[in-house]
Amino acid sequence: MVKMIVNSDIRKGAIDKNIYGHFSEHLGRCIYEGFWVGEDSPIPNTRGIRNDVVDAMRKIKTPVLRWPGGCFADEYHWKDGIGPREQRPSMVNTHWGGVTENNHFGTHEFMDLCSQLECEPYICGNVGSGTVREMQEWVEYITFDGKSPMADLRRMNGRLEPWKLTYFGVGNENWGCGGRMRPEYYADEYRRYSTYVRDFSGNRIRKIACGPNAADYRWTEVLMREAGSMMWGLSLHYYVVPTGAWHKKGSATEFDDNMWYSTMKRALFMDELITKHSAIMDRYDPGKRVALVVDEWGVWHDVEPGTNPAFLYQQNTLRDALVAGATLNIFNNHCDRVKMANIAQTINVLQSMILTDKEKMIVTPTYHVFDLYKVHQDAELLDTYLEGPTAGEGDSSIPQLSVSSSIDSDGAVHISLCNMSLSQDAEIRCDIRGMHVSSVEGSILTASEMNAHNTFEKPDAVRPADFDGALLSGGGLMIQLPAKSVVVLTIR
Ligand code: AHR
Repeated sequence: MVKMIVNSDIRKGAIDKNIYGHFSEHLGRCIYEGFWVGEDSPIPNTRGIRNDVVDAMRKIKTPVLRWPGGCFADEYHWKDGIGPREQRPSMVNTHWGGVTENNHFGTHEFMDLCSQLECEPYICGNVGSGTVREMQEWVEYITFDGKSPMADLRRMNGRLEPWKLTYFGVGNENWGCGGRMRPEYYADEYRRYSTYVRDFSGNRIRKIACGPNAADYRWTEVLMREAGSMMWGLSLHYYVVPTGAWHKKGSATEFDDNMWYSTMKRALFMDELITKHSAIMDRYDPGKRVALVVDEWGVWHDVEPGTNPAFLYQQNTLRDALVAGATLNIFNNHCDRVKMANIAQTINVLQSMILTDKEKMIVTPTYHVFDLYKVHQDAELLDTYLEGPTAGEGDSSIPQLSVSSSIDSDGAVHISLCNMSLSQDAEIRCDIRGMHVSSVEGSILTASEMNAHNTFEKPDAVRPADFDGALLSGGGLMIQLPAKSVVVLTIR
């Protein structure tokens, strides 16, 4: 029997709802076909944006959306994406397949999308191939209320009022596709570019600096030392590559037990990454003023056979759902430093929420995890203790269970549990301290096969069900947690 304690009266800070954020790039079929079908499409849309997709993303309470990239951001010139669509110049999307980008989805369309989703926009600016002036003018175009060349241009393009813009990224992966810079050089560039990312007309921008690639701790050290006082947040990118080899990442749907555990192990590495980057940040920022923004994360598989390798289209199984659940637990448990995270990428790319095929749309197992976990958004993290049985063998041995708990503004306690074992159920004795427990209800996401996934033919092969494996017992709970499952409980 596994012992677990939730101290409902020991609160450890707010879980920022933006931890449940998303990322959408001009890549493959994420923006075009995914969100954007155009006003003349037979697919039901509002001003060109798919209604079915908006409804699905609203259901999981999308709090924030990062755009336009990714690597695309450092090649994007925003002025190409405003004005009458038929007059917008096109460009070559060199990073993602050399396809022609017609710029039909630009600033106005993105801000419209965010307002339809009722989420915050997070725009990433171009440092790698753009100018300081271009970045400054973009912010002025979006947020300036008075009379100015950019505000007038915005009005000429049909938007009279400025938009509210809180989050702005000063470049993306500037250690790689965003200019191959060294940290000292980027730190200086960050200082220069961010100076001109101004607060206009009462809008307050939170500037996010390009942070490290996974375990590049030197990058964090240099950025915090040279520019920590000038940023609201520092980003972190980490992808789970199941095999560990970028040239052969492995199939999303065909894998063995060993690959399951290796995937989980690589996902749990996120905890070490956050702990170590946070420790460096603590030295320069002991008050934890600077947020760690994990603005790209998720599992990166080989593309589905027969699809364009540059479009990064992959299926999404129960394995991906377990990765999502365990990773979100890690973020919740580090909510003192992690204030935002954006899974890559919302539709048809990498670990997506949604897959589309022309007019058809399905949601993935990962989507269901975001749906179940939305109860944690803006709730307060609770002190939680869980004993640690292990699963897997040898190099791929992992803790069997992952957990985080929170209390919401109505006093309901939410516990999200992942059992990453393929074969062992877990019997958990959970003490809930500091409250009188009168009811428990829950949902479970699981399947008989570890590679179960949704298809256009069987869209509900993996979906949540009511969970009856938690019973009130002596002021706490007895929980029977099936192997390879994600469970979210609500206790009142
Ligand atoms: O998400 C796909 C790509 O991964 C992004 O464009 C880039 O930032 C990262 O390397």
